[in-house]
Amino acid sequence: MASEFHHALVIGASSGIGEALARKLAAQGALVSIVARRADELERIAGEINDLCGEERAFPFPQDVLRRDEIPHLFQEIPRAMGGLDLVIYAAGVMPEVDFEEYDTSKDSLMVEVNLLGAMAWLNEAARRFNKLGSGTIVGIGSIAGDRGRSANPGYNTSKGALAIYLEALRNRVARRGVRVVTIKPGFVDTPMTFGKPGLLWLISAERAAEIILAKARRGVVCAYVPARWRLVSWVIGSIPSFLFRRLKI
Ligand SMILES: NC(=O)c1ccc[n+]([C@@H]2O[C@H](COP(=O)([O-])OP(=O)(O)OC[C@H]3O[C@@H](n4cnc5c(N)ncnc54)[C@H](OP(=O)(O)O)[C@@H]3O)[C@@H](O)[C@H]2O)c1
Repeated sequence: MASEFHHALVIGASSGIGEALARKLAAQGALVSIVARRADELERIAGEINDLCGEERAFPFPQDVLRRDEIPHLFQEIPRAMGGLDLVIYAAGVMPEVDFEEYDTSKDSLMVEVNLLGAMAWLNEAARRFNKLGSGTIVGIGSIAGDRGRSANPGYNTSKGALAIYLEALRNRVARRGVRVVTIKPGFVDTPMTFGKPGLLWLISAERAAEIILAKARRGVVCAYVPARWRLVSWVIGSIPSFLFRRLKI
């Protein structure tokens, strides 16, 4: 059944998909806490949201997800500031440029730390709280890039593939308590992460992506490709035999 959200938390909300999600949630009447490293951007976005809505609906909480020890305390503070919490979205992510001949463990570690371990640190807190309440929705932004090990950026693929497995496991833990876990796998979205990259098939705006993601979150679907046609692409990519797939530089 579709549900409205009243108190949301978006991690990775200082640009791109996370920012668009925060703006849309506030425009639909929710209070929204926004987390990312760039405090100035969070302040600007919160100010614009609050001006537009004519009341305080956005609450900035600057935080670097690499500092996982800070998260349990912040997670207590956020619902107190808003007066509740019924939706947590993890949208933080990084995808540094990786050359085809590059094997850089520091870049790979950063992607795993932000895209996977940061998600686990924030969403474990969400699961614990929602389990106690017996309700709540958790959304993780993965990627179609996590569906198969590609040659272009192994660290990114790994972080997103593992994130999808973590979200599935979390869903299977908390579903019996009435908590929903939604896995989102976008295709190409026009954000700072993809800016200037060539050959972006079916590129959609961050606003359009946010609209689809919130519709899927309201329905509490298990896993949604954004937009839906990427499910077919994923199926095709998954069907390519390994001896052919390794010839593709994707
Ligand atoms: N754009 C696409 O085509 C696409 C496709 C599939 C999946 N995705 C996924 O969608 C999510 C959002 O990406 P986007 O495209 O919207 O990119 P983006 O505009 O670069 O946004 C990334 C967000 O993550 C935050 N972030 C990065 N490192 C952080 C850290 N250490 N601590 C806290 N926050 C951190 C950034 O904020 P600060 O820099 O202020 O910390 C920013 O708010 C990512 O998980 C990405 O992998 C994107």
